[in-house]
This record gives sequence, structure tokens and C-alpha cells, in this order.
Amino acid sequence: VERVEITVPASTANLGPGFDALGLALGLYNRIRLLPGGDCVEVAVSGEGAEHLSTGPDNLVYQAVQRLYQEVGWPAPMMRIELENAIPVSRGLGSSSTAIVGGLLGANALLDQPLSPDHVLSLAVEMEGHPDNVAPALLGGFQVTSVTDDGLIHLRLPTPAGLRAVVCIPDAAVSTDAARRVLPESYSRADAVFNVGRVALLVAALTTGEVSALRPAMQDKIHQPYRAELVPGFREALGAALDAGALGSCLSGSGSTMLALTEDREERIGEAMVAAVRETGHDARWLALPIDDDGATVRAI
Ligand code: HSE
Repeated sequence: VERVEITVPASTANLGPGFDALGLALGLYNRIRLLPGGDCVEVAVSGEGAEHLSTGPDNLVYQAVQRLYQEVGWPAPMMRIELENAIPVSRGLGSSSTAIVGGLLGANALLDQPLSPDHVLSLAVEMEGHPDNVAPALLGGFQVTSVTDDGLIHLRLPTPAGLRAVVCIPDAAVSTDAARRVLPESYSRADAVFNVGRVALLVAALTTGEVSALRPAMQDKIHQPYRAELVPGFREALGAALDAGALGSCLSGSGSTMLALTEDREERIGEAMVAAVRETGHDARWLALPIDDDGATVRAI
């Protein structure tokens, strides 16, 4: 393969209590084209992030290309990279994971697939630092990931039929680094027990299709209480989504986006969440998104 196009879905990590362990792929996509040749690395960005993403070799997509070539023992070629981004940057929707997964998968295709999908995933986790966005970005659907002594384990949960996401995306970004710095070093036994119960309930709700359990199952005491102050209108928007009929609501990844899961009433839920953010004097927009079941796809162009 000489030139490739990779399409990678957005993802929402944590789903409330599953901090660094649960992720879900969403039907909103970044498209990445790798066009080897020329005598430099140039990156053309359109759509989200066009003003502030790097257009040189330090762009995260090319960093991922280089990482895969390094793993195989070859120097990465010069290339033109074209990015068509629909996923907002630094909003907790996995845009950096799309860059990492896209660069790795594209490079693996250019080299005729020297690395297995699990090897690509482990490089993606190493680059991203946590597995809960890169696994759904690569594989689609609900993914449970755990870093163990024997490597990364990933298992897919079934997606209850008819389940959809409503995301409320604030204008203000939150960097994952900043959102990890506000977390405490240790937790009380009561908070740990709370989250163990909630995450078990969440996995059970998805496995059995008992979506009525999602409301308590998406509650969290490990990260959301500390991140609430970074997201204006956070508690109000989560409550407004539930009042408007959502099955459950939570922070998407490390924010700033807020996520509601629902089977219907998307417009009512989205408008209610945005109205709650506007009450604080800030702005936001909402999108209704299907669950993506397929993950990243690669094709020769
Ligand atoms: N699990 C990570 C966090 C996801 O919450 O920091 C970052 O998108």
C-alpha cells in the first residue's frame, strides 16, 4: 500500500465510575490521509483544531507514524498528512487517541501489516498513557481495558440496542493533564467501595441490557467531584439531562464534554444540558451520536 486513509471514531472514557478502565466509541469521525513522498513532513488540518494543531513533524499523527516505524526498525518516510477533523480538541472526546491510532494503523498498513492489532493497541496505550480511549477508537463499541502483569487485556461489552449518546460540548477546553492534576493521591475506603459497586453495576447493566440501572451505575466518586470545578455548569447539566429523561449522565473522559446515554428524547436532553451551561454565562453545543461498533478503518487510496 502506498497511500492510506484511516477513519477513526471519537470515544468517551470512564463512563462515570470506570476511571481509566471503560470506554465507548461514538459515531463522530476524524479522517487521516498519509501520503508518503517529498522532502519534508507537512500536515494540512481542516475542521476542528485547524488553528492550533501542529503542521510539522511534531504533529501527534506523525509522532505515531514514527513510533511504529521505530518498533519495526525502519526510518519513517517524509510525507504529507491530511487531517479532516470532526472531533473537537481537548474536550474529552478522544481526539488525541484518533491521532495516535490513525498514525499507528496507517504506518502499519504502509509497511504491509508487520504488527498485530494487539501490538498496535499496546503502542497506542503507551503513547496515550491510559487505555480507555485508544481501545474503543481502534476496536469500536464498549471496551473494558485492564493493564495487567501479562499485558493489556481488552474485552468488548455488548451495546444495548437503541442506546444513543447525547454530548454537551462546552466552548471551553480542559486539558487531560490539568484534569489529572486535580485528582487526589489516595481515596477513602468508602469512596473506593462506592466506585467498585457502581462500575460492577454498569458492566452488569450493559451485559444484561437492564438500561434502567444506568442512572446509579454512572455515578462516580473517583474523578468527577474533583473535576467539577473545571467545567462550568457541570452538576447542573448532568442533573438537567436526567430530568429531561436521560438514562444516565457523566463527564466524558476528563472533560469538558458531558455525556448522557438515552434511547430517545435526544433533542430535549441536549437542549437542557446546553441551557444549564448557559445559566453559568458560558456557552456549549450538543450533538446526538450513535454508538460506533466498528472502530478504526483503513483503506488504500
Ligand atoms: N481516563 C482518562 C482520564 C481519560 O479520565 O483522565 C482521559 O480522556
